[in-house]
Amino acid sequence: MRVIECPSQDQAADLVATEILEALHHKPGLVLGLATGSTPIGVYERLVRARREGRADFSRVRTFNLDEYIGLPADHPQSYRRFMREHLFDGVGIPAHHVHFPPTEGKDLLSACRAYEQAIRAAGGIDIQILGIGSNGHIGFNEPTSSLASRTRVKTLTDKTLADNARFYAPGEQQPQLATTMGVGTILEARRILLQSFGSKKAEAVRQAVEGPVSSFWPASALQLHPDVVFYLDGDSASSLTMREYYRRVRRNELELGSH
Ligand code: PGA
Repeated sequence: MRVIECPSQDQAADLVATEILEALHHKPGLVLGLATGSTPIGVYERLVRARREGRADFSRVRTFNLDEYIGLPADHPQSYRRFMREHLFDGVGIPAHHVHFPPTEGKDLLSACRAYEQAIRAAGGIDIQILGIGSNGHIGFNEPTSSLASRTRVKTLTDKTLADNARFYAPGEQQPQLATTMGVGTILEARRILLQSFGSKKAEAVRQAVEGPVSSFWPASALQLHPDVVFYLDGDSASSLTMREYYRRVRRNELELGSH
């Protein structure tokens, strides 16, 4: 696991966007796993800018989003399909048929979830998975006690997640309680995982994910089992790490050796 403490959120977004753009340069048909929420917005802004300036071509990229709410139509302001259109897809010009979301409608969600997994495999697997982390340690909507071998399925959101996301809903507006999410096992199959975390609200989740035991109670801790994960943190999210100084030293050495 690599832990990179960044001087600012902008710098974290710069690093993650650079990783994606370099990978895209080497593989024009890159398969991206994508996240929503406030954390990845800076990365998406940089990808849109790169496309606008003619530095990147997304016409062959295929995308798979981590999760989507059940019960919100695609054009609802809080739906993740709408979020992705506004923050990334419209700006980089990914063809609509290259975009995939976990299923949230229809009678047989179980089969549709299996088909989502199959579509990821048919695309050749996810090259780079972008992740955030919940203050309760969730990745995607894999809430605490999610099986660490789980696949795409419907999850009930915890009170903590509902409270964290209540800011996006007007008072009295109905907030979805269910979502379809890639499983922890699905996420672990991505070739590279780039996780960003900002703010002190996430500090404990980051500490548990990086330094705690592997436990379904902090689903992000399963990332310890993956061979190529990078955590990009601001100072606040890094503030509870007990080996913080060590990670800084590793980073200085990496930069000196030019290895990353
Ligand atoms: P946030 O959400 O980026 O809005 O903080 C992250 C998450 O819950 O995974």
